[in-house]
Amino acid sequence: MIAIGNDHTGYELKMEIIKYLEEKGIEYKDFGCGKIDSSDYPVYAKAVCKAIQNKECDKGILICGTGIGISIAANKMKGIRAALCHDCFSAEATRLHNDANVLALGARVVGPGLAVKIVDTFLNTEFSGQERHIRRIKMLEEE
Ligand code: RB5
Repeated sequence: MIAIGNDHTGYELKMEIIKYLEEKGIEYKDFGCGKIDSSDYPVYAKAVCKAIQNKECDKGILICGTGIGISIAANKMKGIRAALCHDCFSAEATRLHNDANVLALGARVVGPGLAVKIVDTFLNTEFSGQERHIRRIKMLEEE
C-alpha cells in the first residue's frame, strides 16, 4: 500500500501519479490535500509518514512545490528515509543504497511525464540488501 500526500502546489501532479497507480493496479491511500488554495506541507508529510511508521503503508510519495519542505518534514520522523528525486538515476540509487521509503517530488520542478517515470523507477527498484548499505542505514538511526 502506497501512502500519497501533497500540499496545494502538488495537487495536480498527485492526480497524475494516482492515474499511474490506478493503471498499474497499485493500491494507495490518499492523505490529501484536495484542491485548496493554501495548505501547510508538514501536515501531509506527517500523515503519510505516520502511516508508514504504523505499517499501514509500505512506502510514501510526497509532493510540494520544490519537494524540499515536505522532504525535510518527512526526514524528521523516526524510521523515515525520504529522498527528493528529480531524475530516475537518483530514484533508483536511493532505493538500492538508502532503502528510501518515501519519494519526495517538486511539482514546480518536474513535469508529470518525468515525475511518473521517477515514481515507476522508485516503486520497481528493490533495496540491494548489501551489508555496507545496511550498516549505513542503521547509523542513520543512531543519536
Ligand atoms: C508553497 O508555496 C511552497 O513553499 C511549498 O510547496 C514547498 O515548495 C516548500 O518547500
